[in-house]
Amino acid sequence: MTLDADIRACTACALLAAFRTTVVVGTAPPGARLVVVGEAPGALEDETGFPFVGRSGQLLDRLLAEAGLPRDRVAVLNTVKCRPPGNRVPTAHETANCRPWLSQQLAVLDPHLIVTLGLSAAAWFLGRTTLHAVRGRVHEVDGRRVLPTFHPAAALRGGPEGEPMRLLREDLATAVRLVA
Ligand code: URA
Ligand code: SF4
Repeated sequence: MTLDADIRACTACALLAAFRTTVVVGTAPPGARLVVVGEAPGALEDETGFPFVGRSGQLLDRLLAEAGLPRDRVAVLNTVKCRPPGNRVPTAHETANCRPWLSQQLAVLDPHLIVTLGLSAAAWFLGRTTLHAVRGRVHEVDGRRVLPTFHPAAALRGGPEGEPMRLLREDLATAVRLVA
């Protein structure tokens, strides 16, 4: 896809472009009805070029499989395509630079539902907010349905019995039902 090639050639963020190994465009199997949106690539994603392949990704894979929709039928994208050094949160400037890429990807994919992982991805759609205020409910944004939930990294931090894990599992199961 020419959009992918354009994204891979992007150097709008001079710092991120200088430090990256790869541009993590995202994965989108044909016919995917669900799009999951994370924040930005981490170290392993930057190395491999694929989104959510580290510890967070393994948890995402497991919870999607549990919910009955394997990861290979889900599109996985990020708000920012290049790894911020040290995995810091992307700056407002970086997020704004990268915004047109995700917008164009969503226009092409036209998914039934978008699940956002963590606050950055929720705020990409909903503006300045808190996860508490928006998670677990479907919001309509510019004609798209958006279901915010916790980031898998938060679920890992909270532990297997923690509330973020429970709610992430619940919200992903809801998402899978909504696109069935
Ligand atoms: N965390 C994210 O938000 N995105 C990735 O691709 C990997 C980890
Ligand atoms: Fe371009 Fe996005 Fe990478 Fe910035 S993060 S250089 S906007 S692809």
